[in-house]
Amino acid sequence: MTTTITITGAGGQIGYALLFRIAAGDLLGPDEKVRLRLLEIPQGLGAAEGAALELQDGAFGLLEYVEVTDDAAVGFDGCDLALLVGARPRGPGMERADLLAANGGIFGPQGAAIAANAAAGVRVTVVGNPANTNALIAAAAADGVPAERFTALTRLDENRARAQLAHTLGAPVHTVRRVPIWGNHSATQFPDISHATVGGRPVTEALEQIVGDVPTWLETTFIPRVAKRGAEIIDVRGSSSVASAASATIDHVRDWVKGTDDWTSAGVVSHGEYGVPEGLISSFPVRSVDGEWQIVEGLELSDWARSRVDASVAELVEERESVRGLGLL
Ligand code: NAD
Ligand code: LMR
Repeated sequence: MTTTITITGAGGQIGYALLFRIAAGDLLGPDEKVRLRLLEIPQGLGAAEGAALELQDGAFGLLEYVEVTDDAAVGFDGCDLALLVGARPRGPGMERADLLAANGGIFGPQGAAIAANAAAGVRVTVVGNPANTNALIAAAAADGVPAERFTALTRLDENRARAQLAHTLGAPVHTVRRVPIWGNHSATQFPDISHATVGGRPVTEALEQIVGDVPTWLETTFIPRVAKRGAEIIDVRGSSSVASAASATIDHVRDWVKGTDDWTSAGVVSHGEYGVPEGLISSFPVRSVDGEWQIVEGLELSDWARSRVDASVAELVEERESVRGLGLL
């Protein structure tokens, strides 16, 4: 089998980190051949072409071909997996929503080009910020493609949350499970540990012995650390996260295609689950079954958790209003 993968913004930082991992088989495994289409704007073509030359020099056995283009119809032609990375990153002092006006306009035309040119079962992952609302814009413009095929990356937030818990608990990160992110990929997101386990034991119980007052630790330490990690990286590094974002993108798409044996997190379209307004692309606890994300239903939310979810969802509603105001939806 060969899978055609389109990466927008392939000449940028995350694109560069993604391409070589995909070519090496980290996304779809050692038996799946890949064709890469790198879609850029004219100013980014040189960097994408350079990356294509390096891909050639990597002599990757799984890589059938690489095509570089600034034409969306060519870029999305026959595409099975679309990774929409191309967008401006935020700088110090900005919130991700500040990018709506700058980046929102990219995603309508790309959604339309996906509808017109991609393979019938195309799966789209939006990484470019603000990812949830950009995914909403792309989905709305993609006539005939089910909204379920448009997702936003919140796996980086989940990976951050699991890593912070593992560090605090002194446990290997793979033993920390069921830490879903709810809502927006923004500072309002809610990383939820109420169902989390470490080595099969409830995380809340294990945390009590280490941090004492768990609710206070969540409010003052854990949630701000996870929700503001993107800003912390920008402050320390001088620019936004790259390799961890590429790695989370690989995790998200691999799990979507190959399936999961437990919950994870993804920004997916709401059908009203947990009271999230229909049509919003919100992060939920999800499983991937038979190549489709399924929202994990029936979880109890405490009043405190409910208010956290509601606050982040309210921000998504505001972003939707803003892009409607900008004529992007
Ligand atoms: P970058 O500036 O290094 O690269 C962006 C690339 O996109 C550039 O090469 C640019 O030419 C290209 N581009 C711009 N408009 C385009 C268009 N219309 N079509 C195709 N390509 C286009 O930025 P980066 O560090 O790679 O980050 C990319 C985006 O990913 C940013 O919006 C950033 O905020 C976001 N991001 C999201 C997450 C997440 O978890 N969801 C994590 C990290 C970064
Ligand atoms: C991140 O979470 O690191 C990215 O969304 C980049 C940012 O602006 O925070």
